[in-house]
Amino acid sequence: MSHMNPVLSVIGTGYLGATHAACMSSLGFTVVGIDTDKEKIAQLSRGELPFYEPGLDELLKVEIASGRLTFTSDFSTAAQADIHFICVGTPQKADSLAADLTYIEGAVAALVPYLKPGSLIVGKSTVPVGTAKKLLDQLAITAPQADLAWNPEFLREGFAIEDTLRPNRLVVGVTNDRAEEILREVYAPLLALGTPWIRADLPTAELVKVAANSFLATKISFINAMAEVCEAAGGDVTVLAQAIGYDPRIGNKFLQAGIGFGGGCLPKDIRAFMARAEELGARQALEFLREIDAINLRARQRVIGLVRAELTQDLGAYKIAVLGAAFKPDSDDVRDSPSLDIAAQLRAAGASVTVHDPKAIVNAKKRFPDLTFAASVTECISGSDLVLHLTEWREYRDLNPADLISLVKNPIIIDGRNALNRDRWIAAGWKFHALGRSNA
Ligand code: UGA
Repeated sequence: MSHMNPVLSVIGTGYLGATHAACMSSLGFTVVGIDTDKEKIAQLSRGELPFYEPGLDELLKVEIASGRLTFTSDFSTAAQADIHFICVGTPQKADSLAADLTYIEGAVAALVPYLKPGSLIVGKSTVPVGTAKKLLDQLAITAPQADLAWNPEFLREGFAIEDTLRPNRLVVGVTNDRAEEILREVYAPLLALGTPWIRADLPTAELVKVAANSFLATKISFINAMAEVCEAAGGDVTVLAQAIGYDPRIGNKFLQAGIGFGGGCLPKDIRAFMARAEELGARQALEFLREIDAINLRARQRVIGLVRAELTQDLGAYKIAVLGAAFKPDSDDVRDSPSLDIAAQLRAAGASVTVHDPKAIVNAKKRFPDLTFAASVTECISGSDLVLHLTEWREYRDLNPADLISLVKNPIIIDGRNALNRDRWIAAGWKFHALGRSNA
């Protein structure tokens, strides 16, 4: 391997792969992004990002123009590379809680004919523990000239570049010193920033990722459980969260009560983790994650319950406005979006539902063609009987409730994210509900 200037391939150019490819190119590496989706490759090659991520489209254009970054659907191009990052998806299987490993297995199999002696495959996808060992055992037969490491990725949508170029830690699962040395060289610019470096064995590296996401999911469901208790007891979960968050052992992040977590990671990761623990005979250890999942899904039902309490049990006569479709702000990702789930359930219950989102309408429309979509907040809420604030985009926080009140039929808003200024909305004449806050 040309140790001083390795060529990198990135297999799978979705969220993770496209970000990783552009960021590694920005560190000065020659990078080829490979994906079987020809349309995606054509788009990326033109410098167009197939999804929304702040700053990434600019970076992509700059890196393509530099000549270091290219995209192709031709796997044989991987023969040029010394290090191959696997960034394909591991979605939940349709018929169980477990992760679908088809794309990972396909990616490694497609690489095998093109692996140079001494090349290193680096898994970044989130996988059930044991996957790396299994792949390594297969490679020992199909491509003994190659090695495998696991290097989980912790980037958040909306902060993808920052999290890739300034991660709060780098975790590498390896089976030998050479693999660690190669990865230290690749990540040298990040290590120079003082990024903590953790060498682990393969199973631990795989587990770090799902443990981190399980912890984050637990934190969110914890505060949503407290929200339920606050509702029952007449308390205010936002004040409670602030107060417990000052204890540095608890910390104030990820204690935002509301309609809970969604997206392509947290929900499927906790489910796949439970499924894997069961296979390993450790079902009991992760039984609590079942409750975390249940609390999370219950938050959606609590919003629907509030809507029914405000309107009537029969929603057929009502127009409901939904602000926000993405699973979180600064993203156009609608995978397992709590907001769209609520919108779709209200629609199924007979209500007419109009949804607005600054970025996610195109994706939302594809998944939920039954919903009505509006191009502006004004259009969305006009004539509505109730407004739901379900994704906390800055645009919604900045709305002036006094300007909006004349547009609606009934000035009722439910803040499903505890992100709006309640006093301001009430002062403007709105009836304001929020999860976990008594309305006294
Ligand atoms: C998550 C993790 O935060 C990343 O570290 C990880 O790399 C990524 O999954 C992944 O596995 O790829 P992401 O899915 O982008 O990142 O979203 P988060 O910022 O974690 O938010 C997840 C969900 O939790 C969102 O629906 C958000 O609205 C919700 N959330 C977050 C809350 O309801 N309350 C909070 O206090 C925080």
